[in-house]
Amino acid sequence: MSTVLVLNGPNLGRLGSREPDVYGSANLDDLRTLLVASARPGVSIDLRQTDDEAELIHWLYEAVDERMSVILNPAAFTHYSYALRDAAALVTKASLCLIEVHISNPHARETFRHTSVVSAIATGVIAGLGFDSYRLALDFVTAP
Ligand code: DQA
Repeated sequence: MSTVLVLNGPNLGRLGSREPDVYGSANLDDLRTLLVASARPGVSIDLRQTDDEAELIHWLYEAVDERMSVILNPAAFTHYSYALRDAAALVTKASLCLIEVHISNPHARETFRHTSVVSAIATGVIAGLGFDSYRLALDFVTAP
């Protein structure tokens, strides 16, 4: 059994009620259900959310130590957290996949969202497709 870490940053615990016009009305439990249902046989989904930058960084260390692929929605940390970027770089430098995902399309929103300090060290980026951003990332990281 291989495990994919699906990490979600600040305020994503409020999905379902947070700005439904932008993020939709489904919550993280719905996302987990979708990903578990879409996972290939032998793939388990470990979906987590935190508002704490340090916790997110430590989960990225765990991905390196346990050799897990990562699907990361860094949320607002995307736009300014060099600490998170450096931790995410450890994952890809260890030859593990890390896909940056976003529910919305940050490039179609406020200017501060147009910068990602994570994208340059990510394996790839999928944005603007709602929960399908995660589903497509899962398909990629678990492709035979
Ligand atoms: C987000 C986009 C970010 O700009 C924002 O801060 C989020 C969610 C997304 O999934 O669309 O919290 O990462």
